[in-house]
Amino acid sequence: MKLRDLIARKRDGGELSAPEWTFVAQGVANDSLPDYQIAALLMACVLRGMTPDETVALTDAMLNSGRSLDLGHLSVARVDKHSTGGVGDKVSLVLAPLVAACGVAVPMVSGRGLGHTGGTLDKLEAIPGFNTRLSLAAAARQVERIGCVIIGQTDEIAPADRKLYAMRDATGTVAAMPLIAASIMSKKLAEGLTGLVLDVKTGVGAFLPTLDEELALARQMVALGEHHNCPVVVLLSNMDFPLGRECGNGNEVEESVAALRGDGPPDLRELTLRLGAEMLVLGGVESTVEAATRRLEAAIASGAALEKFRELVIAQGGDPAVCDDPQRVLAQPVLRVPYPASRDGVVQRVNALTVGRGITALGGGRQAMEDSIDHSVGFSLRAIPGDRVRRGDVLAEILAADSAGVEAGKLALDEAIAIGDAAVTLPPLVSHRVTGSGVERLA
Ligand code: URA
Repeated sequence: MKLRDLIARKRDGGELSAPEWTFVAQGVANDSLPDYQIAALLMACVLRGMTPDETVALTDAMLNSGRSLDLGHLSVARVDKHSTGGVGDKVSLVLAPLVAACGVAVPMVSGRGLGHTGGTLDKLEAIPGFNTRLSLAAAARQVERIGCVIIGQTDEIAPADRKLYAMRDATGTVAAMPLIAASIMSKKLAEGLTGLVLDVKTGVGAFLPTLDEELALARQMVALGEHHNCPVVVLLSNMDFPLGRECGNGNEVEESVAALRGDGPPDLRELTLRLGAEMLVLGGVESTVEAATRRLEAAIASGAALEKFRELVIAQGGDPAVCDDPQRVLAQPVLRVPYPASRDGVVQRVNALTVGRGITALGGGRQAMEDSIDHSVGFSLRAIPGDRVRRGDVLAEILAADSAGVEAGKLALDEAIAIGDAAVTLPPLVSHRVTGSGVERLA
């Protein structure tokens, strides 16, 4: 098989067969194919699209390029959640221990920041000592022992996806529906799940530009799950502006701990409860979303969710004092500079895409996959769309390492935040629910 011929066929709008996708995935996983050819193939896929059969074939090929978590012997259900990527989205940090505290095991394989979006692993690594690089065997033992684990993709789990993901980030080929679907589902299907909940982001901070494409992505991932006997529920959630108030890494851990205590911002709590309720129903511990929501709320109120987070942090080598006094444990920014409102009015927007790019400019995200990041920088938002403000009110704090960072942060906020006179109606946080039975419009 010649990769050059496959690239040319894809460039001309043709289709690759399942064995051809296996050849590509194996070649990526064992480094036998040159990066420049893989990059050309990816770009042809972005420009020409892929058929549903090709998406299934690429998913299976990437899944089979590695091994799977073997948790079939556990008596409890195993359900995970994954999002297509957002800004300020720290839901996984709250959700994994919360759902585990309610009796459903959560074997979570997460990613790092991609493009303008943040990554769960980067946030967790803000906790001194926290180890996200466990082997599959160690991850399986931890799930058996405490009911949850959050790890990164090692060479064992869909290694072809791991390499393609990095290459897509570097070649402008992230935003393609079939590639996103295959990437997410190859990792998730390697977790040996009995159910999966997906959070597909919509709006300016989402990877895909239109609702139609986001719904198509949701349907495609549901179909891929069904193909592997893994029921999938997808919620579409708004990412026009960041989730919660803290955007960065360490400060997002702090906000997650607050949410686990029941003190977090309302949008973070609402999205966590909605995704978590779907997980408990899929896991069979509750039969309705309402009952599941009550169980989750009780686990937060009783402290069980925070205690499970403490167990998770200890199990993965992190400093458990982060649960009691996050500011003492997490690296703090050198500078905290207020960003004031330039006029009286109503906050019209806080653009998630621009805020995400601003975090990278501050050093809290990566320009290249091998870059290291500064966990202490980011933004602490004080105002969100719809808030009425007076000139000079603090709209945000810029958390920076130096004066260049402060300038970069200011530029990002100048572009991200608009104040006007019109009243603002916020979009619904969760707009659609997609399952094997079809699409439900929720708002
Ligand atoms: N998350 C993933 O795991 N893969 C993508 O391609 C996009 C978001």
